[in-house]
Formats: sequence, C-alpha cells, structure tokens
Amino acid sequence: MSPKGFCAIIAFMKTRILKFNGENPDTTIISEAAAILREGGLVAFPTETVYGLGGDGLRAEASAKIYAAKGRPSDNPLILHIADQEQLTGLVHSVPEGARRLMEAFWPGPLTLVFEKSDAVPYETTGGLDTVAVRMPSHKGARALIRAAGVPVAAPSANLSGQPSPTGGEHVIRDLEGRVEMILDGGDVPLGLESTIVDVTGDTPVILRPGYVTLEQIRTLLGAGEMDPAILDKPSEETRPKAPGMKYRHYAPQAEMVIVEGDRAEVIRQIEELAGGKVREGKRVGILCAQESRGNYHAAPCKTVGTRAEEASIARNLYRCLREFDEEQTEFIYSEAFSEGTLGTAIMNRLVKAAGYRIIRTGGQSGKIQ
Ligand code: TXA
Ligand code: MG
Repeated sequence: MSPKGFCAIIAFMKTRILKFNGENPDTTIISEAAAILREGGLVAFPTETVYGLGGDGLRAEASAKIYAAKGRPSDNPLILHIADQEQLTGLVHSVPEGARRLMEAFWPGPLTLVFEKSDAVPYETTGGLDTVAVRMPSHKGARALIRAAGVPVAAPSANLSGQPSPTGGEHVIRDLEGRVEMILDGGDVPLGLESTIVDVTGDTPVILRPGYVTLEQIRTLLGAGEMDPAILDKPSEETRPKAPGMKYRHYAPQAEMVIVEGDRAEVIRQIEELAGGKVREGKRVGILCAQESRGNYHAAPCKTVGTRAEEASIARNLYRCLREFDEEQTEFIYSEAFSEGTLGTAIMNRLVKAAGYRIIRTGGQSGKIQ
C-alpha cells in the first residue's frame, strides 16, 4: 500500500499549526508542545538539518504513532534527539572514547551517533536493533522543546515516507496536517540535508549516511574513519547499507529522474538532447541545474538549485526543488551532478537515490548503476 493510502486509514485529527521563532522560541508554545510530547502525542518541529516528526522516544506507543503518521516501515529505526550530553547517559550502554571526541567537536550539530542501546530504549524506537541513534541538534528552538519535554525525542524527518525531507514549514503541513497534534512552522531550515550518521560501536567509526560532517573531518579528528561502501551504490545483498533507512528508495520525486555527469559542455548538450526528445513526445519535462549553466538550457523549463560557488546553497534547495517538480507534475527530470567540494558526497547520495540510481556519465560508461 502506498504511504498516502496507509495514512488515509489512520484517524484524522485536528492539527494545531503555530508559527515558531527558532532563534527566540515563545515559552508558551514550547510548554504546550512539550506537554503533547510528554502525553505521548506527536509534534513536528524544525531543526538545523530538516524538520523532525517528534514523539517520546522512550514510549513504544509514541514510536508506533510516528511510524503510522509517516507511513514508514517499522523496521526503519528512529533517531533520538537530546538537549544536552547528560541526557545521553541513560540511553546507551557505553560511550566509546572516539564517540566522546566526536561529540565534543560536533555537538550540538548535524551529527548522529549510533551506540549500543540501554534497556530504557524500546525496540519499537530502534526498529528491533540493539543499537540506538542519538543526535543533539544545534537549532535553539528544537533544543528548547526537547529540554522542556524532559524526554529524548524520537524524530525522523517530518515527511510522508518516500517524499523528500521537509525543509520548509509548508512541506510539513502538506504531508502531516491531520496526522499529528501540532506543527511548529519555523520557516526554512538553514542546512537542508539530514545529519551525518556515524556508527561508533566498532573499532573504526563508519559513516552510514553522509552529511555536513565529512569523512575528512572525522579522520582528521580521530585518525580513522570509513564510509559504508553502500552509500553511493544501488543496495544489493553484498552492499546492504547498515542504516536500515538507506535501503528504501527515499527522497523520491514522482518523476523519472536522470543525472548527467561529466564535462560541463557535454552535460549541457546531453541534457538538452534528452529533455528535447521527451518534450517532443509531449511529456512534462524539467531540468535541474546550477546557476552557472542556467542560461544554456532551452529545451525545457529549468530550476536553479543553487550556485557551485556556494555548495551549501545546493544542499539547502535540493529537496524544495524536488517537491516543486512534483507539484508541477513533472514526468521527467534531467539533472546536472553536484559531486564537487566537501558536500558533494552528501548531495549526490540524495540525488542518486532520488534518480533511482539512473546516472549517465558523459565520455565514459553510461546507464543505470547495477
Ligand atoms: O538530520 C536528521 O538526522 C533528521 C532530523 C529530523 O534530525 N532526522 C532524520 O531521521 O533524518 P530519519 O528517520 O528520516 O533518518 C534516520 C536514518 C534512517 O536511515 C535510519 O535507518 C537510520 O537513521 N538509523 C536510525 N537508527 C539507526 C541505528 N540504530 N543503526 C543504524 N541506522 C540507524
Ligand atoms: Mg527521513
């Protein structure tokens, strides 16, 4: 059953939607939202990465509600969000030395760590795993809410399963109105890509999902670090990702999307040709490109995702652009690749999944990654 079909059968509820100033959160709003969480209800709220769909992470029934509201498979574990380091103690079996140093360097911020879980964390929250993912967001409003709730807040991205993560309040409202008690609309989030996930349970830290905190930064700090080999490849039996969520076709626009990578002039030529061909067939076509090459595309309507001069702008706008293509009922999307710079791996990880692993490398081999 589709996520939307699944959600249609859960009871409709009245959702309170409140404007929320993340920098200077209103104390009344915080205490009302915190009360909902403590009573086992759901509140969607902004973080610095993407919006989260929060519930009490220590209550099995709150986690079950999160899965139902999102239409998410319940073997896909949730991240626990905490407000300060003391909150970590009761949730994990132990804190390895490497993890401690990562926390000092990158918390609060866009880094999630996977630990061995304590008995306090229910299997409903961890999707049946003996490990638990924990993150301390840097977003002031998010931390104020978690602190006021007084419980670790389980929060996946606040989208319907299979939709791009929400980076603006209107995305959350569109996906979750009627399915949660409250939505805190804090406007556009600053980063726009989900946190880096690092498994710290083994001898070497392993990145399970790339993000703003990079492999290079982790290696510089700890002198060690690996990337889960499944990150840019199509999941298979040999390369099954360790983060269960990475195996699903996440971040997927409704359109069939193809990424064209390689020499700039050749990329533009190929995208023009492919887009022009589909337009002639009468299809609805969109092109996703950087500002630097926008003027070169004429075959189909084009969205500028950001500038290559500031790769954070590409990260910030990517999901918004994908959602816009959906709203416009685009049937085929042709996208440039954005592999350069420190954020290239994280951006391409999302883009390649959105494209269902369809990538054309100009001047080299082409076709679908097997
Ligand atoms: O930036 C973020 O991380 C956002 C905001 C809201 O904090 N949250 C987020 O959550 O992206 P979600 O549920 O959409 O993605 C969590 C990912 C999934 O791929 C899940 O499988 C993985 O984290 N994960 C959670 N717990 C895990 C665990 N114990 N071991 C391995 N992977 C885990
Ligand atoms: Mg998600």
